Amino acid sequence: MTNEVAQASAFDPSKLTSAAAQAGDPPYFHRQPSTVTFDFDQGLPDAATYPADLLVRLATETVMEPYALEYSTRGEYMDLSYGNRGLREELANYLNRRDGRPQDPDGIMITHGSAHGLSLIARAYLEPGDAVFLEAATFPFGIRYFESTGATVVPVTLDTDGMRMDDLRKCILEARGKGLRPKLVYVIATHQLPTGAVLSLERRNQLLEMADEFDFMVHEDNVYREHGPGHELPTLLSMDRAGRVFQTDSFAKTVAPAIRIGWVAGTPEAIMPLSKVRQDLGASMWLQRIMVKYLAEGHHEQHIAQIRAIYAQKRKAATQALHDYCSPEITFDEPVGGWYYWLKLSEDVNWPEVQAECMRRGIAMRPGDMFSNDPDQKPYMRLAVGHVEPEVIVDGIRTLGDVLRQVGDRGPTVPSGG
Ligand SMILES: Cc1ncc(COP(=O)(O)O)c(C=O)c1O
Repeated sequence: MTNEVAQASAFDPSKLTSAAAQAGDPPYFHRQPSTVTFDFDQGLPDAATYPADLLVRLATETVMEPYALEYSTRGEYMDLSYGNRGLREELANYLNRRDGRPQDPDGIMITHGSAHGLSLIARAYLEPGDAVFLEAATFPFGIRYFESTGATVVPVTLDTDGMRMDDLRKCILEARGKGLRPKLVYVIATHQLPTGAVLSLERRNQLLEMADEFDFMVHEDNVYREHGPGHELPTLLSMDRAGRVFQTDSFAKTVAPAIRIGWVAGTPEAIMPLSKVRQDLGASMWLQRIMVKYLAEGHHEQHIAQIRAIYAQKRKAATQALHDYCSPEITFDEPVGGWYYWLKLSEDVNWPEVQAECMRRGIAMRPGDMFSNDPDQKPYMRLAVGHVEPEVIVDGIRTLGDVLRQVGDRGPTVPSGG
């Protein structure tokens, strides 16, 4: 027995892994304070908004429904790849109400959260020789999925109006010059992660025009849209006339992350290739039934209105505190929606020392370079406030301000190049 165990541990599975699995740690690994007092690290909803009582009722009412505990409804094999028909119809109704245009339920695939949708788009559409364009700071898992297909991932600059279309055009032409095929533009168009940018209407139009001009597809990641006034702009999906747009979305950032039900919406023709690369036997039938009832009873729109007000309050507290306590060392564009502050760090401050002191004081934030494959994103930190109480937001930012003063008082210790 002892021998068997010793032999088993002598084998090193990492020698046999694929190139994709050798790509380094997943993007959420970074140093954390040993005791976290001010947790601005992960992008999470406010747990007080989770509609737990309602979910208990819906779970109880749906568990006895026919096939709720099966892989699929008997004979309905599309349940396994596209998801439950009832949920796809309810979601299509929801998108119709939201966007004021018809959505075909066969152009919807139910996934395990929106990140799963992203991975299916990457697998179905990308291969070596393709170029994918994304905002220079973006969802780190997106970068990983796209890179793991062997496609070339190209960062495009962004400002408060979102991805810059002049830079996108330049990057597309450069990629074509290198023999790459521009295949996909991935944008978090509304309340972007991590910058809070909202892609302007003008740029939305330009992006779709460029998609026709250069024959690429557009992936609109929509998970933060409902978190602020950016929801008044039309989605790229609703503006799409050519059938080039996928929209990934989920209930994770509105209802609760543990509702691992997401979806990809587009045309039936664009969604069909995703079903060919999907072999996971589908999303939970029970959870899907729960969300059918949740939508059908009209809870979603009500809930969204409530969370919008809550997150607006948190942003107000954070914006004021950052101006009061962290200026001029930290500058930022005030986000109109979402949970994130993309903090630009002054070059006059010794940031490694600030980071070390933040660790000691229990302030957790995320380093900017985790959101990018572009080295220029280094002098940023991301502060997430969605799950933090307004008083704690203010206390934490005040403490960050104290750290800035304390480190600044020791004089400049950054090598000045001289
Ligand atoms: C921009 C963005 N897209 C997608 C996701 C994944 O969300 P889901 O829980 O729907 O898979 C996240 C989660 O942090 C995100 O920030």
